[in-house]
Amino acid sequence: MSSGFSEDSSAEMERTFIAVKPDGVQRGLCGEIIKRFEQRGFKLVAAKFVQASEDHMKKHYLDLKDMPFYAGLCKYMSSGPVFAMVWEGQGIVKLARMMLGETNPADSKPGSIRGDLCINIGRNIIHGSDTLDNAKLEGESGQQRATTSSAARR
Ligand SMILES: Nc1ncnc2c1ncn2[C@@H]1O[C@H](COP(=O)(O)OP(=O)(O)O)[C@@H](O)[C@H]1O
Ligand SMILES: [Mg+2]
Repeated sequence: MSSGFSEDSSAEMERTFIAVKPDGVQRGLCGEIIKRFEQRGFKLVAAKFVQASEDHMKKHYLDLKDMPFYAGLCKYMSSGPVFAMVWEGQGIVKLARMMLGETNPADSKPGSIRGDLCINIGRNIIHGSDTLDNAKLEGESGQQRATTSSAARR
């Protein structure tokens, strides 16, 4: 039986990939977004500005390639730096998606990041992995890009 004070040791520790999109970075919302995850009790384990190429975004959003907004989405996502982060905590993949709100800010409840900070589905300021598998893939890919881009700058 739980003491009521200790953590639930049966709960899985997870990591997820969160990125402030170029519009969120440009609007100065990185601090607000970090604050929300910290205050919820999650731990920031990696963070870096990454300038993604259009090709990288085409791969990242490959599942949306048949959508009419695909080309515009890849352009928007490579239009400036994104602030890529890995966050850790129990159940974080699902909880982070709840904190983000719905894909369309207009459907997002007040109190969620998209529900409080943006209006337009095409400029919805933040990305969060939707499954644990994608979180692993996207976290590794973000790390590689960060390493590649800093190496390229030397
Ligand atoms: N109808 C749309 N018009 C423009 N952009 C869209 C539209 N639907 C989705 N997007 C963009 O594509 C991104 C990826 O879509 P999706 O994976 O469905 O949402 P989410 O980011 O919530 O996981 C969205 O965050 C948004 O930036
Ligand atoms: Mg998605």
